[in-house]
Amino acid sequence: MTGLLHIDSSILAEGSVSRLLTAELVARFGREIPGLAITYRDVAASTPPILSSAHFFARASGAEPDDPQLRADLALGRELLDEFLAADIVVIGAPMYNFSVPTQLRAWIDHLVVPGRTFAYTPSGIQGLVSGKRIIVVSTRGNVYAGDVPRAPFDHQEAYLRTAFGNIGVSDLAFVRAEGVGLGEAQKGKAIEAARRDISALRAA
Ligand SMILES: Cc1cc2nc3c(=O)[nH]c(=O)nc-3n(C[C@H](O)[C@H](O)[C@H](O)COP(=O)(O)O)c2cc1C
Repeated sequence: MTGLLHIDSSILAEGSVSRLLTAELVARFGREIPGLAITYRDVAASTPPILSSAHFFARASGAEPDDPQLRADLALGRELLDEFLAADIVVIGAPMYNFSVPTQLRAWIDHLVVPGRTFAYTPSGIQGLVSGKRIIVVSTRGNVYAGDVPRAPFDHQEAYLRTAFGNIGVSDLAFVRAEGVGLGEAQKGKAIEAARRDISALRAA
């Protein structure tokens, strides 16, 4: 059975372009992949714990701390990582906020980058340990950053996601993009239609 993890991170509950498009993408895969098991996590509605010093060191030591809040945060962090590792396909709604990703999405990723589980330190550098996983990012942005445009160097959103997931070994990473959605209703409509065409062109399995 194929497992799909669907992540949304837009702070907009209504009118979010990334939520609209991830829902359409996941619905299409649900129709086309027999028995697809879908897990949904809204990291904006329920923000993963921000990685603190106490959490980081407790996670590294493996010891169970006395503090009940920290124990709960560690358990949730393990759950987020197990859920990510168990999924064959991960669909991520990732708006650009202040040239990067929403804080909530970054908080989720901080629970995935764990030595010994998703990457290892080796004498020749960091080695990613994640294999056989397909990630599709639905990237939405108010302005235009793709291609040979003056704003291209300001893209720390897709560039960050490419680096962060590449670092843990993910090689099958695709972007569905709706950009320029802040440049008026006509451009927004065109951007959504272009993203829908890209969603239709994705292989389901
Ligand atoms: C807090 C915030 C910060 C934003 N920062 C940027 C930005 O730096 N660059 C940009 O092009 N658009 C920016 N935008 C516009 C969003 O990327 C755009 O509206 C996108 O559609 C958001 O996805 P969503 O509709 O799923 O929330 C920002 C929007 C918000 C709410």
